[in-house]
Amino acid sequence: MAGDERKRAKRRVFSGIQPSGDVQLGNYLGAIKGWVERQDAKENYFCIVDLHAITTPQKPEELRRQTRSLAAMLFAAGLDPEKCTVFIQSHVTAHAEGCWALNCVTPVGWLERMTQYKDKISRQESVATGLLDYPVLMAADILLYDADEVPVGDDQRQHVELTRDIAQRFNHLYGDTFKVPEAVIPEAGARVMGLDDPTVKMSKSYAHIRGHAVNLLDEPKEIERSFKRAVTDSGNDIRFSDDPEKAGVNNLLGVYKAITGRSREEVEADFAGARGYGDLKARVAEAVIEELRPLRERHHRLMNDVGELDRLLAVGAEQAGAVSENKLKEVKRRMGLVIPGEQ
Ligand code: AMP
Ligand code: TRP
Repeated sequence: MAGDERKRAKRRVFSGIQPSGDVQLGNYLGAIKGWVERQDAKENYFCIVDLHAITTPQKPEELRRQTRSLAAMLFAAGLDPEKCTVFIQSHVTAHAEGCWALNCVTPVGWLERMTQYKDKISRQESVATGLLDYPVLMAADILLYDADEVPVGDDQRQHVELTRDIAQRFNHLYGDTFKVPEAVIPEAGARVMGLDDPTVKMSKSYAHIRGHAVNLLDEPKEIERSFKRAVTDSGNDIRFSDDPEKAGVNNLLGVYKAITGRSREEVEADFAGARGYGDLKARVAEAVIEELRPLRERHHRLMNDVGELDRLLAVGAEQAGAVSENKLKEVKRRMGLVIPGEQ
């Protein structure tokens, strides 16, 4: 068990977000919004995982821009550098080193079974080793901080399960070293679906498809248009439902619920007097526009002051490095690597 753990006043939270592609509404409602809401109650580490991003081909200039843009977005969404640690993964070298150490205790078979990996390789001709290794790097991210909780969307649950398995295996082989973390899946907005196709998860990978995703930086007019075009069904019943036919309406209500924080019953009551799906779409669009307006403005200000943005990120990297490098040293010691100055 971590030496500092007994003294910890708050539970420690670690989460990561990829800088590949622009941040969309699913990322915001499924991840970032919850991080902001919980920043007072927990000790938080938020990592922009650029090393994960390069497991698939990236355009260097784009990646650099997107990484800073994401950082600006996290601060714009309300993460407060006084309360939490926001940093870029590649700025803290312990992550890559920790990944190597964990690679050496992780059976390849565990990685080949990962659903996301199988899904990704089915869409690619050539696969980089890094893509297979992706979940081990994620395990290093989490375990180096002795995180108690890992808030992620539903799609990442399997990777957190694997992280637990790796931690237990390491602890078994080398003695109690890592805390076994838990995934925390947000209830509201856990899975935002595509507006063009409510059977697939909204994703920045499909952001090029018109009408699929809402980008957090979209202008109000564009957001309105995206919702107007959203796929629904031929009925007029506005209620939550598991019926695949009603996946579109269910998704719109889910988005509204996640933004307003109201219960299912309250949301359904809100729309009791609505005049059909047109009305529903307009009101959900309005809620999204008002939620995102201040974010877009703050993001714009930070992107025009890269010096300030990089300063905030340097502070984050220093805080993160202090914690993870200490843990990495413990890992190296356990594994029999020579630590300079130690017996
Ligand atoms: P990614 O875009 O895959 O790096 O995801 C970053 C975070 O956002 C993770 O916690 C994801 O699970 C979450 N996320 C991404 N897309 C969605 C979505 N459509 N609905 C809910 N959460 C999502
Ligand atoms: N794989 C995660 C995703 O795509 C991102 C991630 C990387 C992460 N490292 C992490 C999430 C550590 C939580 C904890 O969403």
